[in-house]
Amino acid sequence: MNDLLMAFEVLLAIYKDGAYSNLELNKRVNGASNQAIVTRLVYGVLQKDVQLEYYLSKVTGKRPTKTVVILLKLGMYTLTYINSIPRYAVVDSLVTICEKYGKRQLKGFVNSTLKNFDASQIALPKDKAEDLSVEASVPLWLVKAYCKQYGFDRTKEFLSVETFTKEHIRPNLKRQTLSQLKSLLDMQNIAYDESVAGGLFIDNNAYIKSLSEKGLITFQSMTSMMSAQAMEVKDGERILDMCAAPGGKSIYMSELADVAITACDIHEHRLQLIRDYINRMGGANITVQYNDGAVFNEEFVGKFDRTLCDVPCSGLGVVGKKADIYLTASFEKCQELAKLQYEILCNASRYTKKRIVYSTCTTLREENYNIVGRFVKENKEWKVVKSQQYLPDGKGQDGFFIAVLERA
Ligand SMILES: C[S@@+](CC[C@H](N)C(=O)[O-])C[C@H]1O[C@@H](n2cnc3c(N)ncnc32)[C@H](O)[C@@H]1O
Repeated sequence: MNDLLMAFEVLLAIYKDGAYSNLELNKRVNGASNQAIVTRLVYGVLQKDVQLEYYLSKVTGKRPTKTVVILLKLGMYTLTYINSIPRYAVVDSLVTICEKYGKRQLKGFVNSTLKNFDASQIALPKDKAEDLSVEASVPLWLVKAYCKQYGFDRTKEFLSVETFTKEHIRPNLKRQTLSQLKSLLDMQNIAYDESVAGGLFIDNNAYIKSLSEKGLITFQSMTSMMSAQAMEVKDGERILDMCAAPGGKSIYMSELADVAITACDIHEHRLQLIRDYINRMGGANITVQYNDGAVFNEEFVGKFDRTLCDVPCSGLGVVGKKADIYLTASFEKCQELAKLQYEILCNASRYTKKRIVYSTCTTLREENYNIVGRFVKENKEWKVVKSQQYLPDGKGQDGFFIAVLERA
């Protein structure tokens, strides 16, 4: 009961008040009798939101109030995916929570709806795209957009990959090489798999955490490393990072060569994250500066050899790590972001002498190919040297886009 109650309260804060799932969970989960199950329940419900909405539409007539919807989603998720809690206990607990939250008159409704759900086999939609939307728990508008872009089979393939749970770390190259880090882990009998980016996939534990706190390693995704590597920074160059917070790529670039980096962001509190990150990793030649990438800055004109535009995006490629992304995503938001992304890229081009890397952690062409395609069409002095859309593969690769642009 307590774990279900805690999961319910976290979900209530996320669905009703728009709280961030990871922050809300971290705030409360220490008080749980079984932290793993509370975490699984919360992320599970968020990940399966589209599927649970479908089930809800099949087992209820009129849509209940928000609180009851959350109760039912939690109940249906637990009954479908969690075997360790007896079925009667799931229903009883949710009925008790219903009463506790002032919905005494709806106890019977919650009880009968969950029992009905448990007893029935809900048929999936007949339409292929709708069926995939429910099976993979991805909004229908997005499944349709993916099918248009990638075709049905490819879409089904990447939407069906398992969530990858290992962390990706890399050595702080100012302190140790990859082989030194591997020896250190070998001595501790810690297993790892090397990634193509020169980092390691690993199960996080207290020892790994301590290496990170000492600045000997850092957690950075494989694709994030690849985007910084695509900059091919050289000793003595001046580098601009237009959207730098929390600083992962700036700091990595500062380890790859002896460069002077200007790391910008629009959010003051996020600039502090970059400073903290630099301190943890032991200093770097990085100037942290407020700058709105969408507003032209005269002072930056022609000042940088290379610029990284790791632009704000819809994050659809990292949904495995951020379970609540689909709750607020929409095609209109992607289009809004595309306008901002284009402005940032145009400004970057006026600041840069040689190369721009444009990257996102998203999977729709509206924020990726279309942006760089339109840019080179309208700016003939630039050409696309390389561009690639990466899709989640269930083996540690996120959905990610990297384009390398150079002066023609
Ligand atoms: C994808 S994140 C960058 C991640 C970062 N490059 C890293 O590797 O750690 C995008 C960043 O863009 C920032 N941002 C959003 N709008 C911006 C703007 N108009 N100008 C500059 N930065 C902006 C956000 O605050 C966010 O920190």
